Amino acid sequence: MSAMTSSSSPAPMTVAGLFAGIGGLELGLERAGLRTEYLCELWGPARAVLSERFPGVPLDLDVREVKRLPRADVVTAGFPCTDLSQAGRTAGIAGEHSGLVRELFRLLRAGRRSLPTWVVIENVRNMTVLGSGSAMAHVVQGLEDLGYRWAYRVVDSRFSGVPQRRQRVLFVASRTEDPRGALFADEAGEPPAEELADDAFGFYWTEGLRGLGWARDAVPTLKGGSSLGIPSAPGIWVPAAEQGRRVVSPRLEEAEALQGFPPGWTGPVEGSARAAGTRWKLVGNAVTVGVAQWLGGRLAGPGEPLATGRELAPGERWPLAAWGAKGRRFAAEASMWPLRLPYAHLSSLVDLPEAPALSLRATGGFYQRLCRGGLKVAPPEFRDDIAGHLASHGLGVMGHSSSADGPGHLASHGLGVMGRRALERDEAAAVACLPRAAGTGGH
Ligand SMILES: C[S@@+](CC[C@H](N)C(=O)[O-])C[C@H]1O[C@@H](n2cnc3c(N)ncnc32)[C@H](O)[C@@H]1O
Repeated sequence: MSAMTSSSSPAPMTVAGLFAGIGGLELGLERAGLRTEYLCELWGPARAVLSERFPGVPLDLDVREVKRLPRADVVTAGFPCTDLSQAGRTAGIAGEHSGLVRELFRLLRAGRRSLPTWVVIENVRNMTVLGSGSAMAHVVQGLEDLGYRWAYRVVDSRFSGVPQRRQRVLFVASRTEDPRGALFADEAGEPPAEELADDAFGFYWTEGLRGLGWARDAVPTLKGGSSLGIPSAPGIWVPAAEQGRRVVSPRLEEAEALQGFPPGWTGPVEGSARAAGTRWKLVGNAVTVGVAQWLGGRLAGPGEPLATGRELAPGERWPLAAWGAKGRRFAAEASMWPLRLPYAHLSSLVDLPEAPALSLRATGGFYQRLCRGGLKVAPPEFRDDIAGHLASHGLGVMGHSSSADGPGHLASHGLGVMGRRALERDEAAAVACLPRAAGTGGH
């Protein structure tokens, strides 16, 4: 080997990112040594983030208008989940938004003579079950029509060390490499329960009981929006905190960190209208950076696949991990935790003593929904503390009727007439179902 070849390191693998959002996938791949050379993203705020965080990288607007992709080793497509997610419209893969995955296949077909080595597709776990898994069948068919072998694995972002339970399907496909070597070379398994702390629990307050999203030492999946379409922070219950500080939310920069981004990553959006809601949405839509970093390492250096599996019968449910080619499908024995990277406990990532308390309005509405249904997942103290939180903010059985702040208190929340009416409705309904103990400040 000549001195020249021995000293030169191989050129980094290149990435073309479709549906790039704020570049969670691409940032993770870059951290694994890959280089982003092309991006495509339609939404203005996401484009503002990409332009600043990936300076100089060509950024196309609408994937439907793109004629050809530049040559790249990896093409990524975290296509819109709006029609596939539980929180979304569930129109399925034929839906207006999620159906855009067809553009990926169109572009791959258009560049048939220089197909990428790897195709990476990411979406919500719900796609494995929605419409009997028709979205999975669609993606698999699209890849097989192009001659790709494919594998997928549902992974939980917590494996990358962030306290966010986020389960996503990662597809990897290749014509020249074995995709199992990328997805199934690592297996750590879920950690034992005693490795998780007992001091903070995440939940959704926006979805009522249908999606309480109860998570120990973690927040549930950060979302682009609730079922009401409102981008919102999850709640965190801190049972040992003083009353009034037991129900809080992470701040935006902490949400960025919960997704593995450097705090302030979506800062370029600041100054635009409704920046906070937009930033939450961008963060909730993204791929967790550490997940993409693990994957990038395995695309650059596939390993020996550990998974064994059995052939799936036609029409059988899609398992949590599988691989296949040319019409044959095999279930893989792979957990959602390929690695178990050092875990940032929720109470160490979120500054709980300083975290904003969940607002009276949010808590009132949430409590009302709690009252309507049974509370099966969370401990009974949780419900008491939600009531106590209301009471400590001047709203309880006694507090509501005798509260000295009354309308002034509502006004102090900066609400207009409509907002105040809605709040009053929420408060009244919440009060109607408060346990008697709530007026005393709870437990
Ligand atoms: C689930 S998000 C992708 C998130 C991204 N992988 C990340 O890590 O940030 C889907 C993205 O597709 C974008 N999108 C929707 N329609 C598009 C189109 N016609 N062309 C390009 N991008 C589009 C959305 O604006 C959204 O940012």
